[in-house]
Amino acid sequence: MVNNNELLRVIKSRRSVRNFIQKEIPENIVKDIVDCGRLAPTARNLQPWTFVVIRKKETLAELADITDYGKFLADASCCILVFCQDTKYYLEDGCAATENILIAAQAHGIGGCWIAGDKKPYASRIAKMVKAPDGVKLVSIIAMGYPAEIPNPPKKSLEDVIKWEHW
Ligand SMILES: Cc1cc2nc3c(=O)[nH]c(=O)nc-3n(C[C@H](O)[C@H](O)[C@H](O)COP(=O)(O)O)c2cc1C
Repeated sequence: MVNNNELLRVIKSRRSVRNFIQKEIPENIVKDIVDCGRLAPTARNLQPWTFVVIRKKETLAELADITDYGKFLADASCCILVFCQDTKYYLEDGCAATENILIAAQAHGIGGCWIAGDKKPYASRIAKMVKAPDGVKLVSIIAMGYPAEIPNPPKKSLEDVIKWEHW
């Protein structure tokens, strides 16, 4: 039986973590996190994705170098590259999986940060680097690791963003 309060606490406490301690994430936990990604909703249930897990330090450093706002990848324990086939709703599908992964990581006490993939000029370079087949889209790069610090960026209040029945 799911403890709903605990689930909501996990969702609400997630923040982008960009500083990590040097501690490896066990493989079974990485697999569980990806498992949560693959169970996200997709348009027409196409599940157009493939998740490439990067754990080698040299590859993480290379990714850090290629990205503009992902330099902290060099200190991550691992990262997950979310690729999708070029379907009509690939972006929505890949984003749904990305958020599931971030929430699952948070539930395991692991910090993560979504790094832009889609729309970035480096997306095709990263796809080539990991030998992805032609035509697939890099939706996101998710850096993960045990948090060294958890930021607290400002959030709009619920009252500011909720409207009932009309704008
Ligand atoms: C589509 C998308 C792209 C993002 N790209 C980056 C990025 O390249 N580098 C980065 O440090 N954070 C990136 N972020 C994380 C946001 O900066 C972060 O979610 C936002 O500042 C709110 O903070 P929070 O996640 O802690 O709530 C991205 C988030 C999204 C949804």
